[in-house]
Amino acid sequence: MRIGVLTGGGDCPGLNQALRAVVMRGMDHGFELIGIKRGWDGLIKVDTVPLRLEDVEDLVDKGGTMLESSRTNPFKNEVDCQKTLDNIENLKLDCLCALGGEDTLGVASKLHDLGVKTVGIPKTMDNDIDETDYTFGYDSAAQVATEACDRLRDTARSHRRLMVLEVMGRSAGWVALASGVAGGADWILIPEVSLDLEEMCEHLTRVYERGKHWGLVVVSEGVEIPSADEESVGRDAFGHVILRKRGVGEFISREVEQRTPFEETRLSVLGHIIRGGAPTSFDRFLATRLGLKAMDLVKQGEFGKMSSIQCNQITSVWLRDAVHELKRVPVELYNEIKALFK
Ligand code: F6P
Repeated sequence: MRIGVLTGGGDCPGLNQALRAVVMRGMDHGFELIGIKRGWDGLIKVDTVPLRLEDVEDLVDKGGTMLESSRTNPFKNEVDCQKTLDNIENLKLDCLCALGGEDTLGVASKLHDLGVKTVGIPKTMDNDIDETDYTFGYDSAAQVATEACDRLRDTARSHRRLMVLEVMGRSAGWVALASGVAGGADWILIPEVSLDLEEMCEHLTRVYERGKHWGLVVVSEGVEIPSADEESVGRDAFGHVILRKRGVGEFISREVEQRTPFEETRLSVLGHIIRGGAPTSFDRFLATRLGLKAMDLVKQGEFGKMSSIQCNQITSVWLRDAVHELKRVPVELYNEIKALFK
């Protein structure tokens, strides 16, 4: 079997390790693996590379994706959609293996509905893919954000400042919540919970008044803020608002500075720093297991499926179920965590 493999959407730690496992397991099954460059763009433009053992075996500690990525949406217009379908035939691909988040896996699911044999592997630092307990990339991102919190607490304490840390996370606040808890934040803001500036600033004022004259707030970039004019900041090929342009961290630090007695408020925006770098061993192991499983799904003819981890067991789920709805932080979990805001 000839299998096209691609990575789409934002890069994240673990992609290379999953590709390595795909190739190694694919070899066991006698598959020929063709790398498609820059996600769905490489299928539209026919940009491919061979994927052999020597191309992947030393990727074990490498961040990013050796296949490169893009946010190209082949369903955005009919011409690209037709080119994609034609090129699957022209390249004589029997199957496609897509490593991605909601958008890339959504395309893989739609292609499967159109009769293309596809399998998916869930990645994203956002950890918001349903039907899997974790996506790889998340643990590494949360680890870097936690280290950032630790460093910021040092400066906050030394200068009596309130530090605000903005972290990525489009629709789900998993990274903000995990790093905020692990990094000792005094308040955490996530997209799943409506912003209540008054509640947060009253709490921060109490923190100051009880004698702690420094603090840390972690905010997810996806939090809705009153000042954001979503239409003027633009959208990507999948229709998502380009969040970096909304300036959530700036808005929060401005408000906190005005509404609380802390001497100074400073903002740090982590941005892509949490998406790059070597994956944690958790992500390397998870990515590897999910990659192996994807090739087993192909071998067993289980198309339209995604490899997944549930209760530490690697299993498979329907792609359509995985992309039907995002896995967001339950509000009950956030409320539980609020016990730590003292
Ligand atoms: O991949 C998901 C994500 O990391 C989001 O958390 C973030 O909003 C987005 O990617 C940023 O994407 P880009 O690198 O294209 O700006």
